[in-house]
Amino acid sequence: MNTLFDTLWEGYTSITPSAKEIHQLFEERGEEITNDHIAIRTFNDARVDINRLAIPFKKMGYVESGEYHFPAKKLYAKHYQIPGNSAAPKVFISELRLELMSKELKQAVELILDSVDQAEFESEELVLKGRLWSQPKFALYDTLRAESEYAAWMYLYGFCANHFTVNVNKLRSFSSLEKVNEMLLKDGFSMNVSGGIIKGTSEQMLEQSSILADMMDFAFVEGKKRVPTCYYEFALRYPQANGELFDGFIAESADKIFESTDLKLQQS
Ligand code: NI
Repeated sequence: MNTLFDTLWEGYTSITPSAKEIHQLFEERGEEITNDHIAIRTFNDARVDINRLAIPFKKMGYVESGEYHFPAKKLYAKHYQIPGNSAAPKVFISELRLELMSKELKQAVELILDSVDQAEFESEELVLKGRLWSQPKFALYDTLRAESEYAAWMYLYGFCANHFTVNVNKLRSFSSLEKVNEMLLKDGFSMNVSGGIIKGTSEQMLEQSSILADMMDFAFVEGKKRVPTCYYEFALRYPQANGELFDGFIAESADKIFESTDLKLQQS
């Protein structure tokens, strides 16, 4: 089970150096990081949709445990967890609802997917494949981005982990998410402030924050351009009436967390 998550972590940290630096910061304080959840992005095209990406996780015993709607961003998501195993990281998979996008965007995504050797989509390890299509064009990236930052991000990185998440409940020397954020700000990390630094409340039983995605010089067909990659998230869960920690997600918070990879936030 660790292998898949380890491989996802390697790919993720290769373009998200901040995640490794933050890991180290916690370790220097004697903390051992556990992962609350990973997130994966995709399109709702049947070849690559949520259900397809969920296959290797289902094999490990993960079951569908919640669904979420993001009308403004035209996204739909499901989360998976292993029943009775709260130590296993949850898996959050979202998909862009192509039927709600412009004809141009839908067509562009279909052309991108059509350009791939279709057997690749059948692979159980699709989630580890990254970008299966040829080198991105900045012009297309920019067009996609004007309509959906999510679609533009997918065009660059494909199938991989969009973020990992520090389980703040398991940290021993941080009593609150505020304290974690304070350390990150002090160490020079930029936080996603869309909807406030902390998304969610104790009443909602989940508080989340995240750094803004790292920036990378990406080699487009037209040359190198600076673009957002991935980010690191921090989650603090509160107990429900039955004493167990809340194990779902809050759509309005996740909606803001998605924006951690937006170029427009980086520029504000
Ligand atoms: Ni997340």
